[in-house]
Amino acid sequence: MIILGIETSCDETAASIIEGKGNDVKVLSNVVSSQIEIHKKYGGVIPEVAAREHVLNIIPVINEALEIAKIKPLKSCLANTNVKFPIPSTQDNVKSNPKSKILNPKLIDAIAVTVGPGLITSLIVGVETARNLAYAWNLPLIGVNHIEGHIYANFVGGFPNSNTENSGQFPILILTVSGGHTMLVLMKGHGKFKTIGETRDDAAGEAFDKAAQMLGIGYPGGPAVAANAAKLKIKNYELKNNKNINLPRPMLNSNNFDFSFSGLKTALLYELKKDADWQKRIPEYAYEFQQAVIDVLIGKTIKAVKKYNVKNIMLSGGVAANVELRKQMAAIIKIKIPDASLHIPELQYTTDNAAMVATAGYYKALRKKFIPWKKVKAECNLNL
Ligand code: KG4
Ligand code: ZN
Repeated sequence: MIILGIETSCDETAASIIEGKGNDVKVLSNVVSSQIEIHKKYGGVIPEVAAREHVLNIIPVINEALEIAKIKPLKSCLANTNVKFPIPSTQDNVKSNPKSKILNPKLIDAIAVTVGPGLITSLIVGVETARNLAYAWNLPLIGVNHIEGHIYANFVGGFPNSNTENSGQFPILILTVSGGHTMLVLMKGHGKFKTIGETRDDAAGEAFDKAAQMLGIGYPGGPAVAANAAKLKIKNYELKNNKNINLPRPMLNSNNFDFSFSGLKTALLYELKKDADWQKRIPEYAYEFQQAVIDVLIGKTIKAVKKYNVKNIMLSGGVAANVELRKQMAAIIKIKIPDASLHIPELQYTTDNAAMVATAGYYKALRKKFIPWKKVKAECNLNL
């Protein structure tokens, strides 16, 4: 089954073509147009600007995804003024050149689009584009929850851990950490999710972004904090240098699986205010801040794995791109729960992309979870 995935929930315009067969998911194309350079100067995403950029980018991005996957791009339809956009030519291509590798959109079986949660004006661009294409090409449409998309980044390339004895075992515990969400989710089967904990205030990615802003090291904050923290390691500072920076590990020992990161951000602010020379010690602050977030994320995940006795653990979301989080999570699971397997998506599928949306859409298509094009709508506060 071939799925076109479309993602526009925040500041990435993305389209992807995947081919699913059973539990095997092959990515034929994965195109992401990021607006980071545009939003950088404001230190965060400006929704109105993001929506306008999506409008400009969505068709070229879909075209590129179709082209890379060797599916006839939309522009060839647009170029022909006799053809009403976006009706694709179908059989002509095949008849005129039976050996042609260029396919046509009829080979797409369904369109999957992120319907929420996210910025409403950004979501609408993707949803309306998907609705129009589904109508014009007479294809089934699938609405995908963005968080579900992040979770399914783990299923790109096939069912995770397929070469281990835990292969295919539900339930799976997923730590999903992005700019908008921090959640521990128990996945009992495809499309069956139970949220067992979430942040009560800021998301982990949001905390990284705000910390980076305080430290004046750029946007988006996660990669900036990680790069500065890594400088500390490269220079081989001894951690005793860090003795004056003691950030809290919020809710690490609380009796639930919830998180809170806004206090950590305030604690960093107070530490910086106390230190007249903080600008000379940015890598140390970045290191301590990153480690505080990692300690809490790992501590809660391990606790949940033990309580729910799961054998498969997954990471997802933009913060899962954090190299230290990936490394430390793997090391601790190996020591503390050696019979459990950890799965982490490839870096390109951790931050927003459409391959994850197409993959989630594929598994929904297998369950016939289609939505009529007349009914699909963007929902900014959609729950998992
Ligand atoms: O999943 P994502 O692309 O978008 C949302 O759905 O929010 O996540 C973006 C978030 C940003 O807050 C960014 O700072 C964070 O992921 N992020 C990172 C890293 N790369 C991106 N956080 C920590 N370390 C990273 N390497
Ligand atoms: Zn996301």
